[in-house]
Amino acid sequence: MAEGRHDVIIIGSGAAGLTAALNLADRFRVLVLAKGGLSDGSTAWAQGGIAAVLEPGDTFASHIEDTMVAGAGLNDRATVEFVVGNAPAAIERLARLGVPFNPGESERWHLTREGGHSHRRIVHVDDATGWAVQQALEKAAHANPNITLLPDMAAIDLITGRHGERYSGDGHVWGVYAFNRKSGHVEAFTGRATILATGGAGRTYLYSTAPRGATGDGIAMAWRAGCRVSNMEFMQFHPTCLYNLEVKNFLITEAMRGEGGELKIPGTGHRFMPDFDPRAELAPRDVVARAIDHEIKRLGLDHVDLDISHKPADFIIHHFPTIHARLLELGIDITTQPIPVVPAQHYTCGGVVVDLDGRTDLPGLYAAGEVTQSGLHGANRLASNSLLECFVFGEAAARHIGAHWDTLPEPPAIRAWDESRVSDSDEEVIVQHNWKEIRRFMWDYVGIVRTTKRLERAQHRIALLRQEVADYYGNFRVTPDLIELRNLVEVADLIVRSALHRKESRGLHYTLDYPAMLPVAADTVLTP
Ligand code: FAD
Ligand code: SIN
Repeated sequence: MAEGRHDVIIIGSGAAGLTAALNLADRFRVLVLAKGGLSDGSTAWAQGGIAAVLEPGDTFASHIEDTMVAGAGLNDRATVEFVVGNAPAAIERLARLGVPFNPGESERWHLTREGGHSHRRIVHVDDATGWAVQQALEKAAHANPNITLLPDMAAIDLITGRHGERYSGDGHVWGVYAFNRKSGHVEAFTGRATILATGGAGRTYLYSTAPRGATGDGIAMAWRAGCRVSNMEFMQFHPTCLYNLEVKNFLITEAMRGEGGELKIPGTGHRFMPDFDPRAELAPRDVVARAIDHEIKRLGLDHVDLDISHKPADFIIHHFPTIHARLLELGIDITTQPIPVVPAQHYTCGGVVVDLDGRTDLPGLYAAGEVTQSGLHGANRLASNSLLECFVFGEAAARHIGAHWDTLPEPPAIRAWDESRVSDSDEEVIVQHNWKEIRRFMWDYVGIVRTTKRLERAQHRIALLRQEVADYYGNFRVTPDLIELRNLVEVADLIVRSALHRKESRGLHYTLDYPAMLPVAADTVLTP
């Protein structure tokens, strides 16, 4: 039976969670929980690829420099060096697991290019890298008898000393309470160590490239348990999400601009990026997203166009088979027509503060992947550095747990989840309404270009919603939507508080009230 005690509990079955599981399973019994299906996280949706220094002309120094330039100097240099230095070995391990990276003509692998990278250094599997990675990791995890994979388990809150049968205020984390979507009951899972690998918080925004479950659950759970959360104002907007009234979150990979795609004004065909930045379409994402936002607002457009039709048709189909096929279904032939695109939320740069071993502030609790703020991304993530972060930190957390196993105590007896004072909800409409409301005002007030007045408006709305959701949560039985709504409110609050705290424009945080960048770069760190 899965409920009960395991050696290590991992919350999340994407790149970070499964990497950690595979690195622990030689010695430990590992339980991996996923909120829905095992492949429902962002990992499976990744298109462009994974960045690593893999060809003779490229250097670690260059990858480090590109990461720091994109991050507007806010990155932690030691973390950047750690991740970049471990990247080639991480790619080798994935290849050994069976990820079929595209071969190159003269080099072992074909390397594509993305914005902010001064070299071709992105390994990929066509334009569907994440799917190939997710399948390889899942296959290896399924084959390992020490790994139990448990989908349809929505984690609600971390179990700490205050949930023990004997109260302890030491903040130690012993596992998690999770809602079993099949049985409708809440179960407790305990272990000597717990790893949060729950991904990002993109769905705080109305338009996002991220999957439905990216509601910041891990960030909210860690915050409630007592962890510091950092740099939440740095929400990355991807410049090129398909503009389509039916399909709202289909990404058009940055690799399309890397392979020559141009951004144009619909109607006139004017290529506008050179007017904004000498790096044109390959400037870092914050620059490109702001330029598109500027042109859309200035000209009253619904979208701009991304055009690669000047390249030969077989080149386009060979490089972008998934996008080509999907858009043909929607009536757009990318070999002859431009693609209508708009920016959409894409990546959460901030998160739970971790050190180079993936340790959080709380004993027994580790975190890896998009849920964290490790110091890698600074004020803006460089393209294709995030899957990499999952592999490097998933392994680092596993290594630290293994090396310190004898110092991790056995979990104490934990109280069962108490449902004796709640009833079934009679007003599910409140949950649905508030979900939509948060995402709408975060899009309108806390988007690509911000002002203090708009942020304060959002803060006011959040205060009202927080009270409403707390009342609801206190009185009714939990449901998956309510769990997510409670976390969305928490994360929206952390984003707005962080944005109000930063009195400058840096990287992804751009405010009309403080347009200049301060001389010294400092993280925003919120303490519970
Ligand atoms: P995820 O892969 O998102 O997995 C999160 C896991 O946590 C899931 O299993 C989910 O079920 C689980 N979970 C969440 N909440 C709970 C809960 N309450 N209870 C239980 N389980 C929970 N990055 C790159 O480097 N290269 C790319 O080419 C690239 N392309 C991208 C394209 C798209 C469309 C998107 C959205 C992102 C892209 N990214 C890319 C970013 C990258 O995919 C993510 O940052 C990365 O996959 C995150 O991995 P993760 O393991 O941290 O989380
Ligand atoms: C993309 O393919 O454009 C996404 C790459 C990334 O988010 O790193």
